[in-house]
Amino acid sequence: MFGKKKPVYCDERLRHIAFIMDGNGRWAKGRGMPRSYGHKVGAKAFKEAVKYCSTIGLGHMTVYAFSTENWRRPREEVDAILALLDEYIEEALADLAQNDVRIVFLGEKTPFPDALREKMEHLEAESANNSLILNIAMNYGGRDELLHAANIAIAEGKTTLTEADIDAHLYTKLSPPPDLIVRTANERRLSNFLLWQSAYAELYFTDVLWPDFKPRHIDAAIRDFYARKRNFGGH
Ligand code: IPE
Ligand code: IPE
Ligand code: MG
Repeated sequence: MFGKKKPVYCDERLRHIAFIMDGNGRWAKGRGMPRSYGHKVGAKAFKEAVKYCSTIGLGHMTVYAFSTENWRRPREEVDAILALLDEYIEEALADLAQNDVRIVFLGEKTPFPDALREKMEHLEAESANNSLILNIAMNYGGRDELLHAANIAIAEGKTTLTEADIDAHLYTKLSPPPDLIVRTANERRLSNFLLWQSAYAELYFTDVLWPDFKPRHIDAAIRDFYARKRNFGGH
């Protein structure tokens, strides 16, 4: 029998998986299509990934959707990504009762158009009582996050900062650090993602381009994770 493999369920060793969703542009280029088409199909893969993660006992999921550096891309590509975000927010609002997902946006919202920013805030508020935390990194940069956290602590009157002061003001403050960071599309770098939180994360790289990334690929990453031994500097 060629039955489907049973999925691996997450336990206390794997509370948080973060995804660097890379390769949309190359996926589209390979098909002679505009980059925006890659983002469109990538958005579908993202929704499928969220659905899958909500069935395997995961508590926290983070996706890198748009970096502080991605504003350097052509205007029409940025606009296409923002339009997909808008569409996703509408769908997520309509699905809140069925999907037990709490959405948190990581990053400053001020650069977004007012209407979009308000929708982002509305979705965060409306989903606040749901249980799977889905952090969507949108205008996110690890360096921006650290400066933001440090500046809040300074504004509170602190002159010497502790790790706890930084932790308390991270955009990801509702989540533990990621246990596993998955990056698609054959790139082996963090690109300014979760610089503080990734200190002891397990890193998993795959050649699969994000629009082709399926639940079975998540399952493969999780199996790989469980075969590893983490030391956290101990032994
Ligand atoms: C990831 O895919 C999505 C974003 C960064 C917004 P890319 O758009 O970076 O795709 P490639 O890396 O150019 O193939
Ligand atoms: C990282 O991908 C950001 C996201 C996936 C949103 P990039 O495609 O922007 O990263 P670089 O430029 O190749 O490092
Ligand atoms: Mg890329």
